[in-house]
Amino acid sequence: MQMMTAAVLNAAPGGLQIEQLPIPEPRANEVLVKVHATSVTRSDCGFRAADPFFSRIFIGLLRPKRRIPGMELAGVVEAVGAAVTEFDVGDEVFGIRGGANAEYVCVREQGALAHKPAGMSFEEAAAVSDGGIIALACLKKADPLKGRSILIYGASGAIGTAAVQLAKHFGAAGITGVCNTKNLELVRSLGADVVIDYTQEDFTKNGETYDVVFDAVGKHSFRRCRRSLKQNGIYIETDLGFMWHVPLLALATRWIGDKKATLPIPSYTKENILAIKELIEASEYRAVIDRRYPLEDVVEATTYVETGQKTGNVVLTVT
Ligand SMILES: NC(=O)c1ccc[n+]([C@@H]2O[C@H](COP(=O)([O-])OP(=O)(O)OC[C@H]3O[C@@H](n4cnc5c(N)ncnc54)[C@H](OP(=O)(O)O)[C@@H]3O)[C@@H](O)[C@H]2O)c1
Repeated sequence: MQMMTAAVLNAAPGGLQIEQLPIPEPRANEVLVKVHATSVTRSDCGFRAADPFFSRIFIGLLRPKRRIPGMELAGVVEAVGAAVTEFDVGDEVFGIRGGANAEYVCVREQGALAHKPAGMSFEEAAAVSDGGIIALACLKKADPLKGRSILIYGASGAIGTAAVQLAKHFGAAGITGVCNTKNLELVRSLGADVVIDYTQEDFTKNGETYDVVFDAVGKHSFRRCRRSLKQNGIYIETDLGFMWHVPLLALATRWIGDKKATLPIPSYTKENILAIKELIEASEYRAVIDRRYPLEDVVEATTYVETGQKTGNVVLTVT
């Protein structure tokens, strides 16, 4: 049996280690991808810590159902199942599939997998999907964005860096990015017209109002942002919030008041991965990579992502 190196979650809460596991075999409708690069995302950290608690219903009550963490991947098709028509052995691909923090992963042909844009490195391709798809799902809630003003709070995270670029693509008139001092230039270079350093200025107190306020890092609140929203403005959140109040708030503001809150749920589909590919090929979206670690250093990489202070994305390289 041929073996591969993989990150493996163990039964202890938060336990993570490197192990040798058998290389999986693709089913008829799957391709086997030899992973060249993968990533550690905030979602991966959430699954690892079973946070929020109810996620245990999906990820396993007592221990993780899927032992290998990771979602984002970029690599080369090593083998294809008998029914696969879209991909061939040797194709360079990228996408999202649980269990990506390993040397090999099987992905459904119809899943969130696409050919890698030409000229893009595996590392970049492993860092575009999660933040990009979440940002797309969130900005769709403010559709049409053309001609409307948007403030993106947490503009330096994986979702935030994608959101600034996509807001520009969708024609937002006036993009304000809020981030720490060290990321002001980056956020400006991604397309923000105005950047606010949250360590120096509280945007909720500067008298400006926006059509859309997007909290891309789950650190703000509808209550505090209300006065920064124009009439009929929309507040977009990425996190469940204190005591998971955001879904209830989203429900209540459908009927009460003229300012809405929403918590979009992204879907990792072929359609969305192709949308990301199209944006990359049109030079409308690129990955921001903070740090790179070898797969073997997955614990160190995860510890860094858990600080909540990464800029953009953290990539694992697989040799
Ligand atoms: N809805 C969903 O399906 C979904 C899926 C995945 C993740 N999420 C949630 O989305 C959120 C963001 O994820 P992400 O991967 O983009 O996060 P991330 O990359 O970890 O965000 C980190 C960035 O946020 C900045 N930041 C930290 N504290 C901040 C604050 N108080 N104000 C402004 N910026 C701050 C950090 O810069 P500095 O520390 O330098 O300020 C850093 O650049 C997380 O809360 C996560 O739980 C939601």
